[in-house]
Amino acid sequence: MQSLNEIRSTFLNYFQRQGHQVVPSSPLVPRNDPTLMFANSGMVQFKNCFTGVEKRDYTRATTAQKCVRAGGKHNDLDNVGYTARHHTFFEMLGNFSFGDYFKTEAIPFAWELITREFGIPKDKLYTTVYHTDDEAFDLWKKIGVPEERIIRIATSDNFWQMGDTGPCGPCTEIFYDHGDKFWGGPPGSPEEDGDRFIEIWNVVFMQNERFEDGSMRALDMQSIDTGMGIERVAALLQGTNDNYATDLMRSLIEASAHATSSDPDGPGKTHHRVIADHLRSTSFLIADGVLPSNDGRGYVLRRILRRAARHAHLLGAQDPLMHRLVPELVRQMGEAYPELRQGQAMIEETLELEETRFRQTLDRGLKLLDDELAGLPEGAELPGQSAFKLYDTYGFPLDLTQDALREKGRTVDTDGFDTAMAEQKAKARAAWSGSGEAVDATIWFDLRDKHGATEFLGYDTETAEGQILALVRDGAALTSASEGDAVTLVLNQTPFYGESGGQVGDTGQIRTDGGSITVTDTKKVEGLFLHVGQVTSGTVKPGEAAILELDHARRGMIRANHSATHLLHEALREALGPHVAQRGSLNAPDRLRFDFSHSAALSPAELSRIETEVNAYIRQNTPVETRIMTPDDARALGAQALFGEKYGDEVRVVSMGKAQTGKGQDGQTWSIELCGGTHVTRTGDIGAFALTGESASSAGVRRIEALTGAAALTELRGRDGTLSEIEGLLKTSGAGTLDRVRALVEERRNLTNEVAQLKREIAMGGGDKASIEAEAVNGIPFLGQVLQGVSGKDLRSLIDAHKTRMGSGVILLIAEEDGKVAVASGVTDDLTDRVSAVDVLKAAVPAVGGKGGGGRPDMAQGGGKDFAGAEAAIAAGRAVLEG
Ligand code: ALA
Repeated sequence: MQSLNEIRSTFLNYFQRQGHQVVPSSPLVPRNDPTLMFANSGMVQFKNCFTGVEKRDYTRATTAQKCVRAGGKHNDLDNVGYTARHHTFFEMLGNFSFGDYFKTEAIPFAWELITREFGIPKDKLYTTVYHTDDEAFDLWKKIGVPEERIIRIATSDNFWQMGDTGPCGPCTEIFYDHGDKFWGGPPGSPEEDGDRFIEIWNVVFMQNERFEDGSMRALDMQSIDTGMGIERVAALLQGTNDNYATDLMRSLIEASAHATSSDPDGPGKTHHRVIADHLRSTSFLIADGVLPSNDGRGYVLRRILRRAARHAHLLGAQDPLMHRLVPELVRQMGEAYPELRQGQAMIEETLELEETRFRQTLDRGLKLLDDELAGLPEGAELPGQSAFKLYDTYGFPLDLTQDALREKGRTVDTDGFDTAMAEQKAKARAAWSGSGEAVDATIWFDLRDKHGATEFLGYDTETAEGQILALVRDGAALTSASEGDAVTLVLNQTPFYGESGGQVGDTGQIRTDGGSITVTDTKKVEGLFLHVGQVTSGTVKPGEAAILELDHARRGMIRANHSATHLLHEALREALGPHVAQRGSLNAPDRLRFDFSHSAALSPAELSRIETEVNAYIRQNTPVETRIMTPDDARALGAQALFGEKYGDEVRVVSMGKAQTGKGQDGQTWSIELCGGTHVTRTGDIGAFALTGESASSAGVRRIEALTGAAALTELRGRDGTLSEIEGLLKTSGAGTLDRVRALVEERRNLTNEVAQLKREIAMGGGDKASIEAEAVNGIPFLGQVLQGVSGKDLRSLIDAHKTRMGSGVILLIAEEDGKVAVASGVTDDLTDRVSAVDVLKAAVPAVGGKGGGGRPDMAQGGGKDFAGAEAAIAAGRAVLEG
């Protein structure tokens, strides 16, 4: 018996031998299709290769593609567990030709693989062709399929299209007859939906492209797209027609039975099947970056998981079950899909968290459901209000309630459910008081109501397609915007980060078929991401698909700054103490800023220690890890959270750096923080870290500014350049430079003192007695002196020196230094009853443009600004003595 893993390899190897490139499965969240919730067939990643828009370096490819059909157009969730072939997750094997081979090769390839490689008996096979496709009919005939087993089908069953638009074409399908022990008829017959004739392969002849208005064009090249559900083929090769009896599904079912100590084929059979299926979809979705939430893809994941949790509960599992089955899934599929292995811890944690939380209300919800049913007439529908209460209060998604009722043969009044939901939204809206931007924000609230929150893809990708939901200007929705128009765009999903948590919004380009927009900022309001920008060419309209590409280099720098901020935060706590808490931050492309509680300025030694520490963690180059948990668990882990910040039910926790034992936040990890921002993959990506500033931000809050990466190096190189210049001027280098600067500072201090001393000596005559000879005015010795290069603060001591030398007299000094004019007058004690120093001063200052001044009768000081009037000032002072 071939295992499912062997079947996958046989398929891929066969096409590899036929010159096909083996291409890995694309992620479940499509990168190139905004209208698609999840990858649902192998061709999704090649969509643009068929239309010729994208060229790859191969024209033949083969894949095993992960697919999810739950939510959106293709939704098989309701049937899972109850049928033999419905899955929320499945793998599609496919071979593809992009303008390379067409029907004449594709049909023989398919036949050879099925009949030779897989050894399926030819007499069990049927084929169908599109009713007008004679060429395909003849090819099957030529290969040896009897005419009566080539069935022409006129319906859309044999014309395949990806969606309402996109590449499409007629197809041919291969069916397997499981024999008359099963009920059912061949394709096209009234009994075709039975279990006997099962489609195993669809080969599409991609030759057309369909547009929004329903029209179709012939594609320039003819291509091939095929899809084979591996679970179905495995079933028939393993002698069953039940996909859940194949080796892989069986191993998961047995893991579920083992973990719940129940019989895999007993009364709990359906529950085990649901659990096995849901284990695959939830684990693969989480591995591809989807996390449980109340919107979009995250809500689909949550619905699947809660449905699984209810079935686990029905099996009597006392504790969360799903995460305990992950190891078996990884054992089965981890080799083919390495992302499962890489994400195992994250998958287990997320499943456990979500199931634990749901279990807290599950019992009460189920009890409410029973009570409601007990009060209803036999077989009556559950009122929409009751289903809504289960949803709103107990977290029961509608399909979970429907699933629970299905076992009892009952249904839900879904219209009533929708009405109750609409009423609640209306109430929430009425209660919404809004913020300062309330008027403008009305439109955001409307959009949020209509379309739900924007899905953020930017943790995993920087380029993605989205659908334009609205174009807004001045609070009003536009029907189009053209070149030159300033406009804000809302799309269903985006890789652009909306400004929050200190990290600035992304900038970049948005392109549609008809125009392009330059985005200059991205903001976040009410869960919507607002792309603020201007139309730079053409015209854009709501409803159009657009390619969003953010400025990669800029985002790279923002990431480095944000991660460095986390390293810095912890280094500050380590150096200064646990009182250090974040008070604000900025993570821009060109710099980072971090405000934190601490009262004193940081010393150069502290700063240097912090800078060194951050750089050490950068060089450590360990991976940055992101996990999702409850705020309580995050705090228990020691994660740094913003005080007073309101967090939701789940938080993102970013950890980085391996700390020395006993250090860091949990004794092992250097930094653990609650954070919704974008980060580097490894700390080494930050490159380098340089502090550029430390200052007071407000009372008790210090601010650090710093640079990372190339900017940090430029900063350091700049400092280095300055140092080199200094060395050049001083003609020294290395350690000698510092000694030389110290000596120069010392020398300067000595020289300054010496100069001051000399100036004083000059003022006292400097040996030239004539210059300080007093003249007698009205019998009083008077000395008037004009001094250049002497500062005001020296005048008082000069006056005292003159008084001592003269014994008795009046002194008036006018001095100038650096444009400042100082005036001082002194009168020896024996003369103060005849002349006041204040009068002399007041008489003198007007001449040098001064006002006021004052002092005591023996000593007065004032100032001015006009040194040219110095002699006149002396004369005016002298005149006071003349009486
Ligand atoms: N794209 C085709 C399908 O999904 C092969 O059936």
